[in-house]
Amino acid sequence: MNLERYHCHEDITEIMWEKIDIIIETYKNTPGAVITVLRECQNIVGYLPCELIDHIAAGMNLPGSEIFGVASFYSLFSLTPKGRHTIKVCTGTACYVKGIRESVSRIENEYNLKEGQTTDDQRFSLECVRCLGACGLAPVMVVGDDTHGDIAAENVIKILDDYK
Ligand code: FES
Repeated sequence: MNLERYHCHEDITEIMWEKIDIIIETYKNTPGAVITVLRECQNIVGYLPCELIDHIAAGMNLPGSEIFGVASFYSLFSLTPKGRHTIKVCTGTACYVKGIRESVSRIENEYNLKEGQTTDDQRFSLECVRCLGACGLAPVMVVGDDTHGDIAAENVIKILDDYK
């Protein structure tokens, strides 16, 4: 496959482009495969920069607006770089009742970070989610692959200190 690249992007290496082209080649004639292609490409790059969206659109012979529309509609896709560690704070009922909002406030204040944002140093991204399925551990926060249960607001920054 030899899709012409109209754009380069500092976050996408040549090896990444090669893998991306294989994904596009695999799915370009499969109806309804846009979500799959976006998900697999995001797994490679970590997010979906606009140059990548343009490249996917060209490769799948679809309008860029269509690809962008899907990428911006679904919360599983990110159009901006993610931090090295994604903090998922549960704001479901059990966690809310047990005071998770106080932990969220402390995180926001400590790192100057709002829900959906990434710190300037790319250390953390913050997401608030509805029920992580661990209500017995409420209040719950997941950092990367680590689940932290029964967190107290006064300890939350100390927990996050371990994630550099
Ligand atoms: S409500 Fe937080 S884990 Fe279920």
